Amino acid sequence: MIGFFDSGFGGLTIARKFSDIAPKYDTIFLGDNARTPYGARSEETIYHYTCEGVQFLFDNGAELVILACNTASAVALRRIQQEWLPKYAPDKRVLGIIIPTAEEVVLHTKGAVGVLATSATVRSRAFTNELKKRNPDISIFEEACPLFVPIIEEGEHEWEGTRMIAKKYISNLFKNGAKIDSVILGCTHYALIEKILLEEIGAGVRVISQGTIIVPKIIEYLVAHPDLEKKLAARGNHTFFSTEQSDRINTLASRFYGAAINVELAVL
Ligand code: DGL
Repeated sequence: MIGFFDSGFGGLTIARKFSDIAPKYDTIFLGDNARTPYGARSEETIYHYTCEGVQFLFDNGAELVILACNTASAVALRRIQQEWLPKYAPDKRVLGIIIPTAEEVVLHTKGAVGVLATSATVRSRAFTNELKKRNPDISIFEEACPLFVPIIEEGEHEWEGTRMIAKKYISNLFKNGAKIDSVILGCTHYALIEKILLEEIGAGVRVISQGTIIVPKIIEYLVAHPDLEKKLAARGNHTFFSTEQSDRINTLASRFYGAAINVELAVL
């Protein structure tokens, strides 16, 4: 199976886009909702939580895991690939979503790039580093948005306060008059408030939501790795797990996924 991992349910937006475009593949999703948000946590904690999530997905049949979480991709991916995988699962693969986003963004931007992301992602400078590696001439401005993930995970993204908070973060991003022509929504949860963010950022700036970028990149990866692709089940089954158990977990997950889904409890 292809596994998708997120600290919460933001990654469901990526899993959904993937199964819309490549419906034949079996997928397994894990949201670590009991411990979300990761964005406010230390690097060590994010690394350990992410390893546990990836292990769960491997134990339940994933051959390839996509960290559909920028925070985990920014903080944990490299260490997982270099230290953890060779030791614990040398035949399996883990990919993140920051590098594919950076590859795509540098193709279109001419001036400066803005990034809205969690505090841990901004602190890691992963977007700045990956963008600069590909085009040292572009300037990058990153703004941490620590209030968004808790609001979105609570299902309160349509609350009017969300727009007020968005205004504050966006005005901080643009405050030094930089000629930002592209803004990356650098957290998979932000897909849920994309409309508000588009309205508040305004016309004339390209707003990049990751679903449309990541999914074709995963498919390219599968084409380039036929040995891995052959191991993937293709019955179109999708299973969903969360570390949290609550009355509203299915309602919340279905909202993120954009269709009714049933979430099972994961014990890590
Ligand atoms: N969806 C995660 C991301 O893309 C949210 C991180 C968090 O839990 O703070 O960064």
